[in-house]
Amino acid sequence: MSSSDRAAELRELLNEASIAYHVDDQPVMDDAAYDVLYDELKALEDADPSLVTPDSPTQRVGAPLSDKFQKVRHLLPMGSLEKVTTDEALQKWEDDMRKRLGTDDAIAYVVEPKIDGSAINLTYENGRFARGLTRGDGIQGEDVTPNLRTIKTIPLQMRRTDAPPTLEVRGEVYMPLDGFRAANEALAKDGKATWPNPRNAAAGSLRQKDSTITAARPLSIWVYGTGFREGLDLETHWETLQWLRERGFPTNPFAQRLESIAEVAELVRDWELRRTTLDYEIDGIVIKVDSYEQQERLGALHERPRWARAFKWAPMTATTRLNEIRIRVGRTGNLNPWAVLEPVEVGGVTISRATLHNEEDINRKDIREGDDVIVQRAGDVIPQVVGPAGKHRRGTKPFQMPTHCPLCGVEVVKPEGEVMHRCPNRACPSRGLETLNNWVMGAADIDGVGEQTVWRLWQQEMVRSIPELYRLTGEQLLELDGFGEISANNAIAAIQASKAIPFFRVLFGLNIPDVGWITARNLALHFGNVDALMNATQEELIEAEGIGPERAEAIAEWFRDDDNRRLVAELRDLGLRFETGEEEKPVEGPLTGNQYVITGTLEGFTRSEAQAALEELGAKVSDSVSSKTTGVIVGEEPGKSKVTKAEKAGVPKLTEADLLKLLGRG
Ligand code: IVH
Repeated sequence: MSSSDRAAELRELLNEASIAYHVDDQPVMDDAAYDVLYDELKALEDADPSLVTPDSPTQRVGAPLSDKFQKVRHLLPMGSLEKVTTDEALQKWEDDMRKRLGTDDAIAYVVEPKIDGSAINLTYENGRFARGLTRGDGIQGEDVTPNLRTIKTIPLQMRRTDAPPTLEVRGEVYMPLDGFRAANEALAKDGKATWPNPRNAAAGSLRQKDSTITAARPLSIWVYGTGFREGLDLETHWETLQWLRERGFPTNPFAQRLESIAEVAELVRDWELRRTTLDYEIDGIVIKVDSYEQQERLGALHERPRWARAFKWAPMTATTRLNEIRIRVGRTGNLNPWAVLEPVEVGGVTISRATLHNEEDINRKDIREGDDVIVQRAGDVIPQVVGPAGKHRRGTKPFQMPTHCPLCGVEVVKPEGEVMHRCPNRACPSRGLETLNNWVMGAADIDGVGEQTVWRLWQQEMVRSIPELYRLTGEQLLELDGFGEISANNAIAAIQASKAIPFFRVLFGLNIPDVGWITARNLALHFGNVDALMNATQEELIEAEGIGPERAEAIAEWFRDDDNRRLVAELRDLGLRFETGEEEKPVEGPLTGNQYVITGTLEGFTRSEAQAALEELGAKVSDSVSSKTTGVIVGEEPGKSKVTKAEKAGVPKLTEADLLKLLGRG
């Protein structure tokens, strides 16, 4: 086979594998196999650059180009949507359409989330991704093709062989919320300006002159229709969505076809609550007439189709007065400033507090007590103060962190090179709230109870400890804002269900100093139950995986404390598990007897996935290097002390590729 044929074959294999992985969520080859084929293609292209085609997966990494974006006309204009905000307006819309269509026509609708990102027009020529434009003014957009190519969920080559000669695919590029938060945290840490919301983050990332920067941003796309199309024999929007999906385009799984406007209205109402459960932002619901024949008869007015509407909810930003900046002391002692706001409605929810990151961030944005500020809610994220609301400043003095912990009075510290101030006092009383947060959001991971609820429960003195959480009733919850009969009952059910979490999760949730997930699991496995653990001497503790003398002493000290012993007894009475279940015990396997430490970020696994994969083969995973360590798996940005310790102790360092081999996936 000629190298050009082989390159074409590799492109096809890799592009198909990419759709299967990123869009279908059903991988057809493992990462190692993908890498081998990818490397082969890259080598062919390096040897003969004329083999590189725009749809080659090697083009997804981006290039530091710096041309200005070209303005290019859309083949068909990109319109916009008329909005409605009430049920009555929805009904009126249907009445108007009936007048135009003839009253007896049944109208079916497709209802889709309205993704709050950046609108994009992708042109495919004979099935190949040829060009991608921003919406621009709707008539012409900017050519951001190299940037779009870096988005893994955009197929470079359509699946199937029936591609029309020219097809415009329309969709919305967005940044998932977790990626948005992580990216913003990283920016804040570096002292850089953060993005006010995921939409700006997506739009800004798409307009990077250097597409390697775009490639590093966690962008994705939902495709919601077509623009110019030729030779496509489809009669409804719903069929088009299925058609696109079958050809490898990510269409939103929540799109639904409904037969009546009454059903549409009901679904829209559901969505107002449901939207915060998505891991991306939506700013409404799009409702489209399904039949193309009806769409054509209805036509458009000023580039706004009469056959579609955007149902929009109240805006997610608002202006209000920042009354006071208060400090909360976190679980690890960090001083987190937060804003006490004049209550204001944002996106249908009244908010009276918002997070402020740290002293530097507050002063960079120039936020002061007494200011009018812009606040914003992003999904279920805690509201944020974006910045002062312009000229109406009332605050006079710049913000300063207190020199002493507001709760225990101990002098605060700010380690060199870090942005956070810390209270060094381990016994500081405010850490109780964070223990509760850590329980609800981490250890027990209770659905339907978020940080907001924990905070309100704490503030109202309804729940000040983990046992009190389990004694909470539906009636009590109803007293809190934002709870109705159903949500309160669901939350109580979720709280009660969380009594069944395994022992190691309970241990983690107790907030014993220095006991993270891995240590909790090792302690649970080693001692089997809480009595053995509670009565263990320091020497006995050291026998457990990853426990050195200092940690052993800290754990023993924690269990000597009367309050802590009472807490354990109370939780046990409430029915929580204090024994390691059979199903959690380690299995025998090819790696039995080996013990690994993982440090830094791995590409293909989260830490707990890597841990689980190793444990499945009988290995143990510890979080500190000792003479018993078989190897240290080193990811990106590893912990320096672990690497140094491994080097000193002569413990081998392993790469992620070595890990894959260990797991038999190499
Ligand atoms: S259909 C004629 N469907 O909302 C326009 N638009 O004003 C037809 N959007 O910027 C657009 N999600 O990018 C449609 N599921 C969806 C959408 C959606 C988000 C955006 C679109 C445009 C704006 C419409």
